[in-house]
Amino acid sequence: MQQVKIGLVGGGTVGSGVVRALEHNGELMASRLGIRLEVVKVAVRDPRKGRGDELPARLLTGDWKAVVHNPDVQVVVELIGGTTTAREVVLAALRHGKPVVTANKALLSAHGEELFAAARDNNANLYYEASVAGGIPIIKVLREALVGNRILAMRGIVNGTCNYILTRMKLEGIDFAEALREAQRLGYAEADPTLDIDGHDAAQKTGILASLAHGFWVQPREIHTEGIRNVTRMDIQFAARLGYTIRLLGVVRTVAPERPAPKGSRKKAAGPGIQVAVYPALVPDSHVLASVNHAFNAIAVRGDIVGETLFYGRGAGGDPTASSVLGDLADAALDLKHGSHDRVPAFVPHHRGGRVVPMDTVTCRYYVRLAVLDRPGVFARIASILARAGIGISSIIQPEGHEGEAVPVILMIHDAPDGKVRKAMARVAKLPAVKGPPMMIRVEGAEG
Ligand code: NAP
Ligand code: HSE
Repeated sequence: MQQVKIGLVGGGTVGSGVVRALEHNGELMASRLGIRLEVVKVAVRDPRKGRGDELPARLLTGDWKAVVHNPDVQVVVELIGGTTTAREVVLAALRHGKPVVTANKALLSAHGEELFAAARDNNANLYYEASVAGGIPIIKVLREALVGNRILAMRGIVNGTCNYILTRMKLEGIDFAEALREAQRLGYAEADPTLDIDGHDAAQKTGILASLAHGFWVQPREIHTEGIRNVTRMDIQFAARLGYTIRLLGVVRTVAPERPAPKGSRKKAAGPGIQVAVYPALVPDSHVLASVNHAFNAIAVRGDIVGETLFYGRGAGGDPTASSVLGDLADAALDLKHGSHDRVPAFVPHHRGGRVVPMDTVTCRYYVRLAVLDRPGVFARIASILARAGIGISSIIQPEGHEGEAVPVILMIHDAPDGKVRKAMARVAKLPAVKGPPMMIRVEGAEG
């Protein structure tokens, strides 16, 4: 049987998961593919560290170049994370004409265009299923299964760490710091967990999904990004009383449809305007995303032909991520066998003129929590500022049972342009009766 030899750069949570999974299912894969996959070298930072039977010392090296330049290695798998050495590893392998598999969304987000060009120029391919949503094969879905659709909307829970934290805070009432420590212990969090909790990891993944769906590379600076650092247990509880669950969402939505060039006119066709953003949101409990708990991820995708679809699974951790790496390894091995490196190219720009629209102009609904002095006339003053800005309030709730100088008040705000609501709330925050900055969380509807 044909063999394909694999070199891993990185033997941590995901790298050791890949070795373990191949140990377990290598024979099964061989019988399905007609190709046996064999790991022949693994680069780690410290090869002297004990790693048990999973990563035997004979496979280990402390020098990634010894993997990439090894003439036996036919496919390189980059699993070290970060954007500096990882970029060098991927470029060096591609320049050797070796296909590369990576789980590194930070790398793709920052250097995707350069790496895809290097793959094209060197007749090698770059595979990155594991970079988004762990074990869910969403990259294959967008590139292959839904290729016949215009993607109208995607809303996804794409960060397992944040979803784990929000779930534990809601279901067990534990505090943020404790839930984060657990997520780290379970291997969900990035080496630098601020990437998770400040929304950057979700933004990198959301950018990759938006780019694939709309055919132009979305730059990280174009993605409006908010994390979950400021979400309190109080907000989670108030949201629950109102029938919502707070989730960190990656959102990609067509907000200005494509416009074909009018017949007989000199006007050009315009591509779609898309919203690309990451933010905590109140999701109605009746929506399926509200019941995605712990480190699970889910992505709801609406296509113009297929309608609503949903993809669900474990979004972080060694085993689910290894499952996606194995899928990519199978594609790479089959491509090597058939000499077809560009059967499904890493990324193909559509040249259809799409653009990311500024978040300020996107219409949103808001939950706002204020701390106000419990005095007559305060609600009227707040309502008057919002009314002057043309912003409607759908309800005002003063939850009972709170005492002290300032009490919480919840406003549910009707659809309005995001920038306008933020400006008006900045004016509300300056009222003498309002204490502290407003807590503002967007509210998602049942429809994408
Ligand atoms: P990790 O547990 O921290 O493992 C990183 C591995 O890379 C370690 O084995 C480390 O060696 C090695 N390494 C670091 N720098 C190196 C260098 N310069 N040369 C050689 N080896 C080096 O990270 P991970 O969680 O497996 O994540 C790896 C990648 O997968 C990241 O891009 C991450 O974003 C992505 N990812 C992770 C998950 C997840 O759930 N963990 C899910 C999807 C995607 P030592 O062992 O000696 O320290
Ligand atoms: N830190 C990431 C998460 C790992 O929590 O989702 C999976 O990409």
